[in-house]
Amino acid sequence: MRVFLGDLQPGMKVVHDVRSRDSVLLLTAGTVLTSKHIASLHKWEVSAVYVDMGFLPPAAFEPFVSLATRQNVVRELSDFLRRSEHSSHLCRTPAMEEAVVAIVDEVLRNRSSQFNLAEMRNYDEYLLSHSLGVCVLAVITGVNLGWQRDKLVQLGLAGLLHDVGKVKVPRVILLKPGPLNRREWREMRKHPIYALDILDEESCIMDAATQHHETMDGGGYPYGLREEAIGEFARVIAIADVYDAMTADRVYRRAVPVHEVLEIVYASGGPRFDP
Ligand SMILES: [Fe+2]
Repeated sequence: MRVFLGDLQPGMKVVHDVRSRDSVLLLTAGTVLTSKHIASLHKWEVSAVYVDMGFLPPAAFEPFVSLATRQNVVRELSDFLRRSEHSSHLCRTPAMEEAVVAIVDEVLRNRSSQFNLAEMRNYDEYLLSHSLGVCVLAVITGVNLGWQRDKLVQLGLAGLLHDVGKVKVPRVILLKPGPLNRREWREMRKHPIYALDILDEESCIMDAATQHHETMDGGGYPYGLREEAIGEFARVIAIADVYDAMTADRVYRRAVPVHEVLEIVYASGGPRFDP
């Protein structure tokens, strides 16, 4: 969570190395703050620091979505994922839909505060956190595309449920702290297909869950669909998915800086993503 200097408290744990404007290393990741550290950050005029708040790190979304709403969504999704491990053809619960409606309404209400993509980062890769991240990013994208509230709610649900198929991927693969080998990749790439068994939702949400790894040039998976054959929601979710995944720290590498992710996404517009 990004915390402004005035709100830092001794005992908070720093998530990333903290550097001064001229790149002097002030604190290393993992440092537990003392009042001395905080005083020193004041001296160096550091404006804010990312600290560990446990699980629910996408506080980068705080300008748009309140903590209570995020907690609500994560709780609903967590229940849903637990059920989806042993059930098929599940439909969203009314509570989950309400939680996404709250996200859409908060994003709509706060849209005047500039959407600053550089602030949008996740700090872990738990399925819940990533799904929430993709949900909010997709809704923000939808708002920028001028979509109406009902469609935004559908899009938010699609973002929340896009990776639901991963509950069927063995955990040793899902949580492997390093690059996957070929066999493991083959298994991981089945998750869009698994969603077909797990979900029973409207076609736009099913499309997002099954097609979010398709690319405009037909080089994606699982079907190798091209351009217009890929659902509109799936195209939005694909960008939000890659953006969220790349800006999150992984066990084996640091997050790619936001500007580099944007360069990759923009440069790929056309061959990979819908420009
Ligand atoms: Fe995925």
